[in-house]
Amino acid sequence: STNKTFTMIKPDAVANGHTGAILDHIIKGGFKIIAMKYLALSKETAGKFYEVHKERPFYGELVDFMSSGPIVAAILEKDNAVEDFRKLIGATDPAKADKGTIRNLYAESIGANAIHGSDSDENAKIEGDFYFSALEKF
Ligand code: CMP
Repeated sequence: STNKTFTMIKPDAVANGHTGAILDHIIKGGFKIIAMKYLALSKETAGKFYEVHKERPFYGELVDFMSSGPIVAAILEKDNAVEDFRKLIGATDPAKADKGTIRNLYAESIGANAIHGSDSDENAKIEGDFYFSALEKF
């Protein structure tokens, strides 16, 4: 397994002022930030990023939400990054997220769930490459 994962701090968490606390949580969790940007997604870009979910009933809602305000996108490095980061952020549904996880602390709902984490090494690479060129990665 590689030692990198990809994350987005979602529009709800940015709008609610949690960006700094979440970045602090990530860094204190032992992750090193390899590349990071603060940006707004167009509907088209959000739709492309989440294309794998195109047939899901929540796809339209997901794309609207992810393009509703600025996000923070970042590539993170740590041993066992994908698995350890998913532990740090907690379950997709914040009601099911373990106490002290980022989603337990900052998420509002299954859609507005504060943060994204890649679910596999393969997707971590695909997702990181979606946002960052080779020149932008340390
Ligand atoms: P994420 O890990 O970014 O990947 C897909 C996202 O779809 C997921 O986080 C959730 O925020 C969102 N999602 C999953 N299930 C639902 C649902 N039932 N309703 C709305 N959004 C959902």
